[in-house]
Amino acid sequence: MTRHELLKYFISYCLSSIIFVFIVFFYFISPQKVKNKKIKYVFLFDEDDLPKRGVKKVEYKFEHNGKVHFNRCYIVFHKSNYLAFSPVCTHLGCHVNWDSINKEFICPCHSGRFDMTGQVIDGPPREPLKTMPLKIENYKVYLGISL
Ligand code: FES
Repeated sequence: MTRHELLKYFISYCLSSIIFVFIVFFYFISPQKVKNKKIKYVFLFDEDDLPKRGVKKVEYKFEHNGKVHFNRCYIVFHKSNYLAFSPVCTHLGCHVNWDSINKEFICPCHSGRFDMTGQVIDGPPREPLKTMPLKIENYKVYLGISL
């Protein structure tokens, strides 16, 4: 194989890889798809049941495409604000648990740890816990879920 042929193969390999990455990006994770995701608000509980401090684990159900789904989230009262987090660990998707003694979320799979604002403290996760929209209307608390 001549140097010219080797260079030609290398360039076509690089171009193919770039095209593949673009296809994957635009097909699976393009910003347009993210924008087009629908947010459905699910009733959680009355406003009086919001935690006055700390973290509350909430289990909820919702209907989508004729099926009933069950899930959970964490509602955190932090610096006079309410935050809602998905329990899904950003490492490999296990569900985190709240440790009320050490005031942190712990993932049972690989010991990933997150603080009460969802930021990574330690372990393999690189991304914080996913926040979820929360709204209060007519004294009722609703959680926004992406569909
Ligand atoms: S899945 Fe949570 S740390 Fe690995």
